Amino acid sequence: MRKLALAILILPLAACGSGEAPRKPLTAEQSAMLSPSDPKLAELYAGSCKACHTVKDSLAPLTGDRSVWDARWAQGEDVLLAAAIQGKKGMPAGGQCFSCTPDDMKALIRFMAGREDEQ
Ligand code: HEC
Repeated sequence: MRKLALAILILPLAACGSGEAPRKPLTAEQSAMLSPSDPKLAELYAGSCKACHTVKDSLAPLTGDRSVWDARWAQGEDVLLAAAIQGKKGMPAGGQCFSCTPDDMKALIRFMAGREDEQ
């Protein structure tokens, strides 16, 4: 009896941990509606990252589209930060944000990767 109760308790948890539902891609329009909740970040974002990261033709991963960001996010935040600061393929060094500090960059990446709400 105890075992059964335990199994019932654990099952929903296991279902939760074993692979989330696949994320739906965002359209460029949906992506362009998003903005960081912090006003200073929102300004930095609108003045740089947004120009590419809400435009499909730029080949940049669309802001908020976890169907494309999750694999990048899996590399780890430090790897993403280094790529953003040094540049990578079509991604210009610093993302054309000349007043962004490394902390700003980190917060911007978090927001763009759809992880703003996570700790
Ligand atoms: C001129 C266009 C452009 C601008 C402006 C831009 N990006 Fe990008 N970004 C790209 C492209 C293109 C890629 C895809 C590069 C690739 O092929 O991996 C990219 C990729 C990235 C990646 C993923 C790197 C990886 O290793 O997967 C991060 C993080 C990123 N950008 C952050 C930013 C941030 C933060 C800003 C604003 C401060 C910004 N970008 C501004 C074009 C841009």
